[in-house]
Amino acid sequence: MSENLIKTTDVTVDYGKKRALKETSLYFNEGTVTALIGPSGCGKSTFLRCINLMNREIPGCVIGGSILYHGDEINNSTYNTFQLRRHVGMVFQQPNPFRKSIYENIAFALRRHGMSNKDELDQRVQESLEAAAIWDEVKDKLNKSAYALSGGQQQRLCIARTLALHPDVVLMDEPCSALDPIATFAIEDTIRDMSSKGICVVIVTHNMEQAARVSDRCAFFLLGEMVEFGPTSELFNTPKDKRLEDYLTGRFG
Ligand SMILES: Nc1ncnc2c1ncn2[C@@H]1O[C@H](COP(=O)(O)OP(=O)(O)OP(=O)(O)O)[C@@H](O)[C@H]1O
Ligand SMILES: [Mg+2]
Repeated sequence: MSENLIKTTDVTVDYGKKRALKETSLYFNEGTVTALIGPSGCGKSTFLRCINLMNREIPGCVIGGSILYHGDEINNSTYNTFQLRRHVGMVFQQPNPFRKSIYENIAFALRRHGMSNKDELDQRVQESLEAAAIWDEVKDKLNKSAYALSGGQQQRLCIARTLALHPDVVLMDEPCSALDPIATFAIEDTIRDMSSKGICVVIVTHNMEQAARVSDRCAFFLLGEMVEFGPTSELFNTPKDKRLEDYLTGRFG
């Protein structure tokens, strides 16, 4: 039996005295896209930040429960977050390229992880930009500042930067919410490509159509509780929980 790439069991998150996430048990497999949906403030980002241990950097934040990555417990003080984040990449809502050239945005992390050969770097930069569907637009200006790109291009550069390290998990927190529909569709294509190459994608989205288009499985959160998890078509067509049904029919949220 193949194990889950990521498996959370009874994960809780407290910010000081406030419990933001109740016991959440979910699993994520390679080559699948899972969408986290639910109204604002329900704990989607909080849960997503558990998977790469980013909550650890928030003072007063305590994560309980078990988070297995390739079967290893990562929710303990000894797990090396630098190594983890090489394999578990993250893309945020606002594109956040470095104040560097397009080329250096990608080469920088590769060098930090020990790659120094110029040909190898050139090749990995190109391959990553191609995978994020932005190579053709930037190949003649690799030494120009990333800040000169449009928002949608910057977001694809950030995806390329993540893919350059050959992650097996990519976490995306509303990656398209600052983008127009064309840039959004380009990123959705890239998400499907990533999963067809075996990457496990976990994406937070407020856009139900996007969740339906890109995800294989969905988890619905409400008020800090993970209410329902299953294949996307089942959640959307035959929701089991009344609260999910109300959310989908626009009764709240
Ligand atoms: N750094 C923090 N410190 C204290 N409380 C926080 C922090 N981050 C989030 N919270 C609280 O935790 C709860 C869940 O927030 P979270 O950002 O996870 O929701 P979300 O589902 O991602 O919402 P949105 O859709 O608006 O992004 C909220 O009540 C929020 O106020
Ligand atoms: Mg959020």
